[in-house]
Amino acid sequence: MVQVKHLNINFADKQVLKDINLNIKKGEVVALIGPSGSGKSTLLRCLNFLVKPTSGVISIDDITVNAEKVLKKDIFKLRQKTAMIFQNYNLLKNMTAIENIMEPMITVQKIPKEKAERVAIDLLKRVGLLDNRDSYPSEMSGGQQQRVGIARAMAVNSNVILFDEPTSSLDPELVGDVLEVIKNLALESQKTMLIVTHEMKFAKDVADKIIFLENGTISVVGTAHEIFVECKNKRVSNFVNKMTENTLEVK
Ligand SMILES: Nc1ncnc2c1ncn2[C@@H]1O[C@H](COP(=O)(O)OP(=O)(O)O)[C@@H](O)[C@H]1O
Ligand SMILES: [Mg+2]
Repeated sequence: MVQVKHLNINFADKQVLKDINLNIKKGEVVALIGPSGSGKSTLLRCLNFLVKPTSGVISIDDITVNAEKVLKKDIFKLRQKTAMIFQNYNLLKNMTAIENIMEPMITVQKIPKEKAERVAIDLLKRVGLLDNRDSYPSEMSGGQQQRVGIARAMAVNSNVILFDEPTSSLDPELVGDVLEVIKNLALESQKTMLIVTHEMKFAKDVADKIIFLENGTISVVGTAHEIFVECKNKRVSNFVNKMTENTLEVK
């Protein structure tokens, strides 16, 4: 469960998020869409306090943090509940695919090496990369690196996975494989997922709920049908129609 109440954030004089309220149920897959600069990344980063909100209350499962009375130990607990996947993969360059996946299990969660290896092998299979278990990041394509990054995020015991445009720095022919991996994990796992994406067909196909953010405000929340078929908000329907023309179908 992720709950956001009255979240605001100012950078200098500019209010970037304005009274955001949000409820995401356990296991729900939510797509966060909207124009560039609308505050999508900032919202994601506020959830684990990578950026500190000016005010507001964030709850993930049993942890509740008020931005105005925040303690370091609360931020630590909140971060343990979340894993984040960025545009540019963030793998450790001196470690192989399997070592990258095992690393947080061993160092953060103190899981014995043999068990971490079994979990990592299972995840490598799920993201279609068992053959690359001993490859270094420099030996893999961007799409393969991102799939290792996703496996790494799935490996840690966090309930909430935050994806910030996971495919937007990939060559177009590699996007489909990564979206398919995310789609399958969304269907199979119990994890709650919040995915910032410009891939409209993917959002339509995978998300239980879609949020449209504009100028730091949530203007519409709805199911795929409500956003793509029946949307009464002209601005939102224009945006999704225009973006749909430019994005891939997921198998
Ligand atoms: N650390 C920061 N300092 C100042 N302004 C920022 C910072 N991070 C983001 N912004 C501003 O906040 C707005 C929203 O940014 P962002 O959340 O990255 O949007 P999106 O992810 O939707 O493209 C932009 O105007 C951006 O310039
Ligand atoms: Mg962004």
